[in-house]
Amino acid sequence: MVKARKFVYHSPFDGLPKETDLKLVEEELPPLRDGEFLTKAVFLSVDPYMRSRAPGVDLGATYIGSQVAKVIESKNPEHPVGEHLVGRFGWRTHTICDSNSDFWLVPDLEGLPLSYSLGVLGMPGNTAYFGFLEICQPKPGQTVVVTGAGGAVGSIVGQIARIKGCTVIAIAGSEEKGKWLIGDLKFDHFLNYKDVDFETKLEGVTPNGVDCYFDNVGGEIASIVLTRMNEFGRISVCGAVSGYNNDFSIKASPIQYLMIRKQLKMEGFNVYRWQERWFEGISQNMKWIQEGKLQYRETLTEGFHNMVKAFIAMLEGRNVGKAVVKA
Ligand SMILES: NC(=O)c1ccc[n+]([C@@H]2O[C@H](COP(=O)([O-])OP(=O)(O)OC[C@H]3O[C@@H](n4cnc5c(N)ncnc54)[C@H](OP(=O)(O)O)[C@@H]3O)[C@@H](O)[C@H]2O)c1
Repeated sequence: MVKARKFVYHSPFDGLPKETDLKLVEEELPPLRDGEFLTKAVFLSVDPYMRSRAPGVDLGATYIGSQVAKVIESKNPEHPVGEHLVGRFGWRTHTICDSNSDFWLVPDLEGLPLSYSLGVLGMPGNTAYFGFLEICQPKPGQTVVVTGAGGAVGSIVGQIARIKGCTVIAIAGSEEKGKWLIGDLKFDHFLNYKDVDFETKLEGVTPNGVDCYFDNVGGEIASIVLTRMNEFGRISVCGAVSGYNNDFSIKASPIQYLMIRKQLKMEGFNVYRWQERWFEGISQNMKWIQEGKLQYRETLTEGFHNMVKAFIAMLEGRNVGKAVVKA
């Protein structure tokens, strides 16, 4: 008999989640039936959407999330023991699956770490690849602003912008992130949005205006960036993390007049729009890593029992690059 450990949604988040909002419980799993296979979590992801989608999670339900898992027992010849997959199984250590479960198979990563399947070679990498290239349509020599630039999606967007020959203005919330973004990733400018002179500094580093804005944060930061847009600028609205802990009850300056005057194009997206092209994004990001054009960083937390700690730390901005938990 296998015992799974899982986190269930225990009390509704109010502001920043607390450790007691999720409860670690055990679940006895039944023996496998024909067609089923048992997976064990190897790495689990903590992502901002786990906070924004909380109102849709029932109390008592296993908390939502993805993991890289390994097949450890199988009664399904299509999924042998040893196979790795990325499954949207929630915050749990063991899961009984069948061919219809919600997963995709990890392709050959050619020696790159398995955990990358939750980041640059998975959902966040594809978010950056498709959400930036398809919506922003960057051209060489143009200026790109990316917020959340020290995180999983933003750090990849900025690097793809550099690969495409753009000038990159990276915005994030700590000097540690700034050092990485300028020192290692070679972005052109870094601004800390917590700086009291943020708006003036943004003006200073965008003398030719902004052509593309990849928005990971929303709120007033986004409204300020929009004041710098050039005519026919493109804005890819990826996330609104500045509002996730306060149910979006934040105030931001109106943007409609700017949109009209500058003839801007703003588009929100969900990365699964490009589900059919999923492995195109993964293989292009893998190629860029192998060519030394794309660097990747993770903030790794050890231990399944530390999932909530890792989740809170990510929401507080204590991750550099992708926040991942090693089970
Ligand atoms: N549309 C899609 O399909 C899709 C898919 C994946 C992700 N997303 C969105 O993309 C964004 C980035 O996701 P990620 O996985 O790459 O997360 P991440 O950037 O690795 O981590 C979240 C970051 O948000 C920043 N943050 C927290 N509170 C903030 C605030 N009040 N104002 C500004 N920044 C704040 C923190 O960095 P600082 O130190 O900079 O504050 C934190 O590190 C999120 O908004 C997420 O919801 C969308």
